Amino acid sequence: MADTSERVSTGNVKLDTMLGGGFIRGRTYLVTGETGVGKTILSLQFLLNGLTRNETCVYVTIDERVEGVLRGAESLGWNFWAHMETGRFIPLELRIYAAEARKYGKESRAFVDAIYNATKGRRFSRLVLDPVSALAQGVKDEFYVREYLREIITMIEERFNVTTLMTTDIPTGSKRMSRFMLEEFLASGVIVLGVKQLNGMLVRTVYVRKMRWSSMDSTMYVFTIVPERGIVIGEPFEEYYRRVMGPAQRMGQELPG
Ligand SMILES: Nc1ncnc2c1ncn2[C@@H]1O[C@H](COP(=O)(O)OP(=O)(O)OP(=O)(O)O)[C@@H](O)[C@H]1O
Ligand SMILES: [Mg+2]
Repeated sequence: MADTSERVSTGNVKLDTMLGGGFIRGRTYLVTGETGVGKTILSLQFLLNGLTRNETCVYVTIDERVEGVLRGAESLGWNFWAHMETGRFIPLELRIYAAEARKYGKESRAFVDAIYNATKGRRFSRLVLDPVSALAQGVKDEFYVREYLREIITMIEERFNVTTLMTTDIPTGSKRMSRFMLEEFLASGVIVLGVKQLNGMLVRTVYVRKMRWSSMDSTMYVFTIVPERGIVIGEPFEEYYRRVMGPAQRMGQELPG
């Protein structure tokens, strides 16, 4: 079993504290939330943190063109192209393998092999799968999805000894925590991003839903997305709410989402 004291920074100091010191090295974590909440930005922030420490990092997109994601990152002032030139940032598009996995059944090995082949067997320390839910889209059988995702996670942990961040989407307006309601059981920790409307303004929220082998802070905080810095976590949501809505208001039904 991995040493639970060996921690890897998420790229956000406050989030590290909320997780009891960061991710445990070699484990797999999940960032979940509705579309547009900041899952990709948080996962890139995690990789950028590794790149600044001279680590080799792999980013796998499953339903987007990698160029589009890296262009988007430029709008935050993050230059992943420069890290690509040094060879320490390895972006991959693995749509094809996802499609074949659906077609041919138990092909989680093909997906993990694809990562191995694309990295030419080089060692890397951080991996992002964005979004992992796309791998199992269209699969009706819940048992199959669970086994497929479980095999992928286990194989990645065994073969690469890497700290992995997967993203998964929540259908808009749903009370679920993830697309298949399975991903959260398979991960060692879950970070939930959200958006709420307060006085006509959109407020972004973040909390840690689960963190194995750690004492965690499960308070919900507000956050903003700031160029260069990425996700910046502010005050607890409850304090923010009272400040914006006035002390007489109690948190409750008037909150959509
Ligand atoms: N340069 C920027 N400055 C400030 N905010 C930005 C910037 N670029 C993107 N954003 C914000 O980040 C949000 C998108 O974040 P991100 O792509 O990480 O979401 P996501 O959760 O991955 O969405 P999806 O589920 O669609 O993949 C946008 O809605 C936008 O509000
Ligand atoms: Mg995304």
